[in-house]
Amino acid sequence: EKGGYQHFMAKEIMEQPKAVRDTISPRIQNGKIVLDNITLTAEQIKSFSKIYIVACGSAYHVGVVAKYVLEKFTRIPVEVDVASEFRYRQPILDDKVLVLVISQSGETADTLAALREAKHLGARTLSIVNVVGSSIANDSDDVIYTWAGPEIAVATTKAYSTQLAVVYLLAIYFADKLGVLSAEEYADYVAKLQALPDKISEALENKEQIQYLASQFFNVKDVFFIGRNLDYAMSLEGSLKLKEISYIHSDAYAAGELKHGTISLVEDGTLVIALATQDALFDKMISNVKEVKARGAVVLGLTTEHNKKIEQVADYALYVPEFCEMMQPSLAVIPLQLFAYYVASMKGCDIDKPRNLAKSVTVE
Ligand code: F6R
Repeated sequence: EKGGYQHFMAKEIMEQPKAVRDTISPRIQNGKIVLDNITLTAEQIKSFSKIYIVACGSAYHVGVVAKYVLEKFTRIPVEVDVASEFRYRQPILDDKVLVLVISQSGETADTLAALREAKHLGARTLSIVNVVGSSIANDSDDVIYTWAGPEIAVATTKAYSTQLAVVYLLAIYFADKLGVLSAEEYADYVAKLQALPDKISEALENKEQIQYLASQFFNVKDVFFIGRNLDYAMSLEGSLKLKEISYIHSDAYAAGELKHGTISLVEDGTLVIALATQDALFDKMISNVKEVKARGAVVLGLTTEHNKKIEQVADYALYVPEFCEMMQPSLAVIPLQLFAYYVASMKGCDIDKPRNLAKSVTVE
Protein backbone atom coordinates (compact mmCIF):
# COMPACT_ATOMS: atom_id res chain seq x y z
CA GLU A 1 0.00 0.00 0.00
CA LYS A 2 3.04 2.26 0.38
CA GLY A 3 3.78 1.61 -3.28
CA GLY A 4 7.35 0.51 -2.63
CA TYR A 5 8.19 3.47 -0.40
CA GLN A 6 9.34 3.10 3.17
CA HIS A 7 6.82 5.60 4.48
CA PHE A 8 3.51 7.08 3.36
CA MET A 9 5.11 10.50 3.67
CA ALA A 10 7.68 9.64 0.98
CA LYS A 11 4.97 8.25 -1.26
CA GLU A 12 2.81 11.33 -0.77
CA ILE A 13 5.71 13.70 -1.44
CA MET A 14 6.30 11.93 -4.75
CA GLU A 15 2.57 12.01 -5.59
CA GLN A 16 2.50 15.80 -5.56
CA PRO A 17 2.80 16.41 -9.32
CA LYS A 18 -0.19 14.14 -9.91
CA ALA A 19 -2.23 15.58 -7.03
CA VAL A 20 -1.63 19.12 -8.26
CA ARG A 21 -2.45 18.13 -11.84
CA ASP A 22 -5.70 16.44 -10.71
CA THR A 23 -6.61 19.60 -8.82
CA ILE A 24 -5.83 22.05 -11.61
CA SER A 25 -6.69 20.37 -14.92
CA PRO A 26 -10.44 19.84 -14.48
CA ARG A 27 -10.69 23.57 -13.63
CA ILE A 28 -9.15 24.79 -16.88
CA GLN A 29 -11.36 24.51 -19.93
CA ASN A 30 -10.53 26.14 -23.27
CA GLY A 31 -8.00 28.41 -21.62
CA LYS A 32 -10.46 29.61 -18.95
CA ILE A 33 -10.58 28.86 -15.23
CA VAL A 34 -13.92 27.23 -14.54
CA LEU A 35 -15.00 26.88 -10.92
CA ASP A 36 -18.23 25.08 -11.76
CA ASN A 37 -20.09 24.75 -8.55
CA ILE A 38 -19.12 28.12 -7.11
CA THR A 39 -22.21 30.24 -6.59
CA LEU A 40 -20.27 33.47 -5.91
CA THR A 41 -21.10 36.03 -8.58
CA ALA A 42 -18.77 38.62 -10.08
CA GLU A 43 -20.89 41.28 -8.31
CA GLN A 44 -20.32 39.62 -4.96
CA ILE A 45 -16.58 39.34 -5.59
CA LYS A 46 -16.51 43.04 -6.48
CA SER A 47 -18.38 43.90 -3.31
CA PHE A 48 -15.85 42.34 -0.92
CA SER A 49 -14.01 44.90 1.18
CA LYS A 50 -11.96 42.31 2.99
CA ILE A 51 -10.97 38.65 2.96
CA TYR A 52 -10.21 36.69 6.12
CA ILE A 53 -8.38 33.39 5.84
CA VAL A 54 -8.84 31.00 8.72
CA ALA A 55 -7.14 27.61 9.24
CA CYS A 56 -4.81 25.61 11.52
CA GLY A 57 -1.25 24.32 11.19
CA SER A 58 0.00 23.76 7.66
CA ALA A 59 -3.35 24.87 6.24
CA TYR A 60 -2.76 28.17 8.07
CA HIS A 61 0.64 28.36 6.36
CA VAL A 62 -1.14 28.02 3.01
CA GLY A 63 -3.23 30.94 4.23
CA VAL A 64 -0.08 33.01 4.80
CA VAL A 65 0.93 32.36 1.16
CA ALA A 66 -2.63 33.13 0.08
CA LYS A 67 -2.54 36.51 1.78
CA TYR A 68 0.33 37.63 -0.45
CA VAL A 69 -1.11 36.03 -3.58
CA LEU A 70 -4.69 37.27 -3.15
CA GLU A 71 -3.63 40.80 -2.25
CA LYS A 72 -1.34 40.93 -5.25
CA PHE A 73 -4.03 39.74 -7.66
CA THR A 74 -7.15 41.37 -6.21
CA ARG A 75 -5.88 44.36 -4.18
CA ILE A 76 -8.49 43.39 -1.59
CA PRO A 77 -6.99 43.51 1.94
CA VAL A 78 -6.48 40.01 3.35
CA GLU A 79 -6.03 39.03 6.97
CA VAL A 80 -5.01 35.52 7.98
CA ASP A 81 -5.54 34.01 11.39
CA VAL A 82 -5.33 30.67 13.12
CA ALA A 83 -8.82 29.32 13.74
CA SER A 84 -8.43 28.93 17.51
CA GLU A 85 -7.65 32.66 17.79
CA PHE A 86 -10.14 33.92 15.24
CA ARG A 87 -13.13 32.20 16.78
CA TYR A 88 -12.63 33.80 20.20
CA ARG A 89 -11.80 37.34 19.21
CA GLN A 90 -15.19 38.59 18.11
CA PRO A 91 -14.15 39.06 14.48
CA ILE A 92 -15.64 42.05 12.71
CA LEU A 93 -17.65 40.57 9.86
CA ASP A 94 -20.58 41.28 7.59
CA ASP A 95 -21.74 40.29 4.12
CA LYS A 96 -18.99 42.37 2.50
CA VAL A 97 -16.38 40.06 3.99
CA LEU A 98 -15.32 36.76 2.50
CA VAL A 99 -14.10 34.18 4.99
CA LEU A 100 -11.90 31.62 3.28
CA VAL A 101 -11.43 28.45 5.28
CA ILE A 102 -8.71 25.91 4.46
CA SER A 103 -8.70 22.32 5.75
CA GLN A 104 -7.47 18.97 4.47
CA SER A 105 -9.74 16.86 6.66
CA GLY A 106 -12.69 19.22 6.73
CA GLU A 107 -13.18 18.15 10.37
CA THR A 108 -10.73 20.27 12.38
CA ALA A 109 -12.75 21.41 15.39
CA ASP A 110 -11.42 24.98 15.66
CA THR A 111 -11.66 25.56 11.91
CA LEU A 112 -15.22 24.27 11.80
CA ALA A 113 -16.20 26.44 14.77
CA ALA A 114 -14.58 29.48 13.14
CA LEU A 115 -16.53 28.81 9.95
CA ARG A 116 -19.79 28.56 11.88
CA GLU A 117 -19.01 31.77 13.77
CA ALA A 118 -18.31 33.54 10.47
CA LYS A 119 -21.62 32.39 9.03
CA HIS A 120 -23.44 33.37 12.18
CA LEU A 121 -21.99 36.90 11.87
CA GLY A 122 -23.19 37.16 8.28
CA ALA A 123 -19.97 36.73 6.30
CA ARG A 124 -19.82 34.93 2.98
CA THR A 125 -17.91 31.65 3.34
CA LEU A 126 -15.78 29.63 0.94
CA SER A 127 -13.75 26.59 1.86
CA ILE A 128 -10.85 24.66 0.36
CA VAL A 129 -11.23 21.08 1.52
CA ASN A 130 -9.80 17.66 0.60
CA VAL A 131 -12.43 15.34 2.05
CA VAL A 132 -15.68 15.30 0.09
CA GLY A 133 -18.77 15.60 2.24
CA SER A 134 -16.83 16.61 5.38
CA SER A 135 -18.38 18.97 7.94
CA ILE A 136 -16.52 22.07 6.72
CA ALA A 137 -17.44 21.32 3.10
CA ASN A 138 -21.08 20.84 4.08
CA ASP A 139 -21.33 23.99 6.15
CA SER A 140 -19.68 26.47 3.72
CA ASP A 141 -21.58 28.56 1.20
CA ASP A 142 -19.12 27.33 -1.44
CA VAL A 143 -16.43 24.68 -1.51
CA ILE A 144 -13.51 24.04 -3.84
CA TYR A 145 -12.12 20.55 -3.42
CA THR A 146 -8.46 19.73 -3.57
CA TRP A 147 -8.04 16.41 -5.36
CA ALA A 148 -5.05 15.14 -3.38
CA GLY A 149 -6.67 11.78 -2.64
CA PRO A 150 -6.39 10.20 0.80
CA GLU A 151 -3.43 11.48 2.82
CA ILE A 152 -2.21 8.94 5.38
CA ALA A 153 0.99 10.46 6.82
CA VAL A 154 0.21 12.78 9.71
CA ALA A 155 2.52 15.47 8.29
CA THR A 156 0.73 16.97 5.33
CA THR A 157 2.52 17.28 1.99
CA LYS A 158 0.33 16.62 -1.02
CA ALA A 159 -2.76 18.18 0.55
CA TYR A 160 -0.71 21.29 1.30
CA SER A 161 0.48 21.46 -2.31
CA THR A 162 -3.03 21.09 -3.72
CA GLN A 163 -4.27 23.80 -1.36
CA LEU A 164 -1.62 26.14 -2.79
CA ALA A 165 -2.79 25.23 -6.30
CA VAL A 166 -6.38 26.14 -5.43
CA VAL A 167 -5.19 29.44 -3.97
CA TYR A 168 -3.56 30.35 -7.32
CA LEU A 169 -6.67 29.24 -9.24
CA LEU A 170 -8.86 31.33 -6.99
CA ALA A 171 -6.64 34.42 -7.11
CA ILE A 172 -6.51 34.41 -10.91
CA TYR A 173 -10.24 33.66 -11.11
CA PHE A 174 -11.04 36.59 -8.80
CA ALA A 175 -8.66 38.92 -10.65
CA ASP A 176 -10.42 38.03 -13.89
CA LYS A 177 -13.86 38.69 -12.41
CA LEU A 178 -12.57 42.00 -11.04
CA GLY A 179 -11.36 42.90 -14.51
CA VAL A 180 -7.80 43.66 -13.41
CA LEU A 181 -5.92 41.33 -15.78
CA SER A 182 -5.35 41.89 -19.48
CA ALA A 183 -6.21 38.99 -21.79
CA GLU A 184 -2.50 38.33 -22.23
CA GLU A 185 -1.74 38.33 -18.53
CA TYR A 186 -4.65 36.00 -17.91
CA ALA A 187 -3.55 33.57 -20.63
CA ASP A 188 -0.02 33.69 -19.29
CA TYR A 189 -1.07 32.82 -15.74
CA VAL A 190 -3.31 30.01 -16.96
CA ALA A 191 -0.37 28.59 -18.93
CA LYS A 192 1.77 28.81 -15.78
CA LEU A 193 -0.85 26.92 -13.80
CA GLN A 194 -0.84 24.18 -16.42
CA ALA A 195 2.95 23.99 -16.30
CA LEU A 196 3.07 23.77 -12.50
CA PRO A 197 2.85 19.95 -12.08
CA ASP A 198 5.86 19.40 -14.37
CA LYS A 199 7.83 22.06 -12.50
CA ILE A 200 7.09 20.26 -9.23
CA SER A 201 8.40 17.03 -10.81
CA GLU A 202 11.58 18.90 -11.72
CA ALA A 203 12.00 20.14 -8.15
CA LEU A 204 11.63 16.55 -6.92
CA GLU A 205 14.62 15.45 -8.99
CA ASN A 206 17.02 17.04 -6.52
CA LYS A 207 16.49 14.31 -3.89
CA GLU A 208 20.11 13.14 -3.59
CA GLN A 209 21.52 16.54 -2.78
CA ILE A 210 18.92 17.08 -0.09
CA GLN A 211 19.62 13.65 1.33
CA TYR A 212 23.30 14.60 1.50
CA LEU A 213 22.49 17.87 3.28
CA ALA A 214 20.27 16.01 5.72
CA SER A 215 23.20 13.71 6.51
CA GLN A 216 25.28 16.78 7.41
CA PHE A 217 22.69 18.26 9.73
CA PHE A 218 20.49 15.56 11.26
CA ASN A 219 22.27 15.92 14.60
CA VAL A 220 21.72 19.65 15.09
CA LYS A 221 19.70 20.90 18.05
CA ASP A 222 18.18 24.08 16.64
CA VAL A 223 17.37 25.37 13.19
CA PHE A 224 16.22 28.81 12.12
CA PHE A 225 14.35 29.33 8.88
CA ILE A 226 14.34 32.87 7.54
CA GLY A 227 12.68 34.50 4.54
CA ARG A 228 10.74 37.52 3.36
CA ASN A 229 7.15 37.70 2.07
CA LEU A 230 6.33 34.44 0.27
CA ASP A 231 9.62 33.00 1.52
CA TYR A 232 8.59 33.85 5.06
CA ALA A 233 5.39 31.86 4.50
CA MET A 234 7.55 28.98 3.26
CA SER A 235 9.84 29.30 6.28
CA LEU A 236 6.86 28.70 8.53
CA GLU A 237 5.99 25.49 6.69
CA GLY A 238 9.61 24.28 6.44
CA SER A 239 10.05 24.78 10.16
CA LEU A 240 6.81 23.00 11.09
CA LYS A 241 7.60 20.02 8.84
CA LEU A 242 11.02 19.65 10.44
CA LYS A 243 9.92 19.92 14.04
CA GLU A 244 6.84 17.72 13.80
CA ILE A 245 8.58 14.67 12.33
CA SER A 246 12.24 15.03 13.43
CA TYR A 247 11.64 16.59 16.88
CA ILE A 248 14.40 19.12 16.22
CA HIS A 249 13.60 22.52 17.65
CA SER A 250 13.20 25.07 14.90
CA ASP A 251 11.61 28.42 14.32
CA ALA A 252 10.73 30.59 11.38
CA TYR A 253 11.34 34.32 11.26
CA ALA A 254 10.68 37.13 8.88
CA ALA A 255 14.30 37.84 7.93
CA GLY A 256 14.03 41.55 8.71
CA GLU A 257 12.90 40.77 12.27
CA LEU A 258 16.05 38.88 13.26
CA LYS A 259 17.91 41.91 14.50
CA HIS A 260 15.02 42.77 16.80
CA GLY A 261 15.83 39.91 19.13
CA THR A 262 16.26 36.47 17.66
CA ILE A 263 19.75 37.02 16.34
CA SER A 264 21.01 36.75 19.93
CA LEU A 265 20.35 32.99 19.65
CA VAL A 266 22.74 32.59 16.72
CA GLU A 267 26.13 31.24 17.76
CA ASP A 268 28.97 29.26 16.24
CA GLY A 269 27.53 26.42 14.18
CA THR A 270 23.83 27.35 14.42
CA LEU A 271 22.05 26.17 11.28
CA VAL A 272 20.13 28.88 9.45
CA ILE A 273 18.12 27.94 6.38
CA ALA A 274 17.71 31.10 4.33
CA LEU A 275 14.98 31.15 1.67
CA ALA A 276 15.49 33.63 -1.15
CA THR A 277 13.31 32.70 -4.12
CA GLN A 278 11.86 36.20 -4.66
CA ASP A 279 14.12 38.21 -6.94
CA ALA A 280 12.94 41.59 -5.71
CA LEU A 281 14.04 40.66 -2.18
CA PHE A 282 17.15 38.67 -3.05
CA ASP A 283 19.67 41.36 -2.10
CA LYS A 284 17.88 41.98 1.20
CA MET A 285 18.22 38.27 1.96
CA ILE A 286 21.91 38.32 1.09
CA SER A 287 22.35 41.04 3.74
CA ASN A 288 20.52 38.90 6.30
CA VAL A 289 22.70 35.92 5.45
CA LYS A 290 25.78 38.06 6.02
CA GLU A 291 24.39 39.18 9.39
CA VAL A 292 23.99 35.61 10.67
CA LYS A 293 27.27 34.46 9.10
CA ALA A 294 29.05 37.21 11.03
CA ARG A 295 27.70 35.60 14.24
CA GLY A 296 28.98 32.14 13.30
CA ALA A 297 25.91 30.58 11.66
CA VAL A 298 26.17 27.81 9.11
CA VAL A 299 23.88 28.87 6.29
CA LEU A 300 21.97 26.76 3.82
CA GLY A 301 20.63 29.07 1.14
CA LEU A 302 17.62 28.12 -0.96
CA THR A 303 17.01 30.10 -4.11
CA THR A 304 16.23 29.81 -7.81
CA GLU A 305 18.67 28.53 -10.41
CA HIS A 306 19.91 31.88 -11.70
CA ASN A 307 20.76 33.32 -8.30
CA LYS A 308 24.20 31.71 -8.06
CA LYS A 309 25.36 34.71 -6.05
CA ILE A 310 24.04 32.90 -2.98
CA GLU A 311 27.18 30.75 -3.11
CA GLN A 312 29.32 33.78 -2.25
CA VAL A 313 27.69 34.12 1.15
CA ALA A 314 26.06 30.80 2.12
CA ASP A 315 27.89 27.61 3.10
CA TYR A 316 25.56 25.42 1.06
CA ALA A 317 23.26 26.29 -1.82
CA LEU A 318 20.06 24.54 -2.86
CA TYR A 319 18.28 25.49 -6.06
CA VAL A 320 14.71 25.19 -7.22
CA PRO A 321 13.64 25.72 -10.84
CA GLU A 322 12.89 29.20 -12.04
CA PHE A 323 9.15 29.85 -12.27
CA CYS A 324 6.39 32.41 -11.91
CA GLU A 325 7.24 34.18 -8.62
CA MET A 326 3.73 33.92 -7.21
CA MET A 327 3.80 30.13 -7.67
CA GLN A 328 7.37 29.68 -6.46
CA PRO A 329 6.12 28.44 -3.04
CA SER A 330 4.97 25.23 -4.73
CA LEU A 331 8.58 24.55 -5.73
CA ALA A 332 10.27 25.87 -2.59
CA VAL A 333 8.24 23.58 -0.36
CA ILE A 334 9.63 20.45 -2.06
CA PRO A 335 13.21 20.63 -0.70
CA LEU A 336 11.82 21.67 2.69
CA GLN A 337 9.60 18.57 2.85
CA LEU A 338 12.42 16.31 1.65
CA PHE A 339 14.88 17.81 4.12
CA ALA A 340 12.51 17.19 7.04
CA TYR A 341 11.82 13.69 5.77
CA TYR A 342 15.47 12.66 5.39
CA VAL A 343 16.50 14.22 8.70
CA ALA A 344 13.70 12.36 10.50
CA SER A 345 14.58 9.16 8.71
CA MET A 346 18.27 9.45 9.68
CA LYS A 347 17.20 10.02 13.28
CA GLY A 348 15.04 6.90 13.13
CA CYS A 349 11.80 8.74 13.93
CA ASP A 350 8.32 7.32 13.45
CA ILE A 351 7.76 9.48 10.38
CA ASP A 352 4.17 8.65 9.48
CA LYS A 353 2.94 8.80 13.07
CA PRO A 354 4.96 11.39 14.99
CA ARG A 355 4.53 11.35 18.75
CA ASN A 356 1.65 13.32 20.29
CA LEU A 357 0.03 14.11 16.94
CA ALA A 358 -3.21 13.00 15.28
CA LYS A 359 -4.09 13.28 11.61
CA SER A 360 -7.27 15.12 12.28
CA VAL A 361 -7.78 17.29 15.37
CA THR A 362 -11.46 17.04 16.14
CA VAL A 363 -11.24 18.34 19.70
CA GLU A 364 -10.45 21.87 20.80
C1 F6R B 1 1.04 19.56 9.67
C2 F6R B 1 -0.38 19.21 9.67
C3 F6R B 1 -1.31 19.99 10.54
C4 F6R B 1 -2.63 20.26 9.81
C5 F6R B 1 -3.64 20.94 10.74
C6 F6R B 1 -4.94 21.27 10.04
O1 F6R B 1 1.77 18.74 8.82
O2 F6R B 1 -0.78 18.30 8.97
O3 F6R B 1 -0.72 21.17 10.97
O4 F6R B 1 -2.36 21.06 8.70
O5 F6R B 1 -3.90 20.10 11.83
O6 F6R B 1 -5.61 20.13 9.60
P1 F6R B 1 -6.72 20.22 8.49
O7 F6R B 1 -6.09 20.71 7.24
O8 F6R B 1 -7.26 18.82 8.36
O9 F6R B 1 -7.77 21.19 8.99
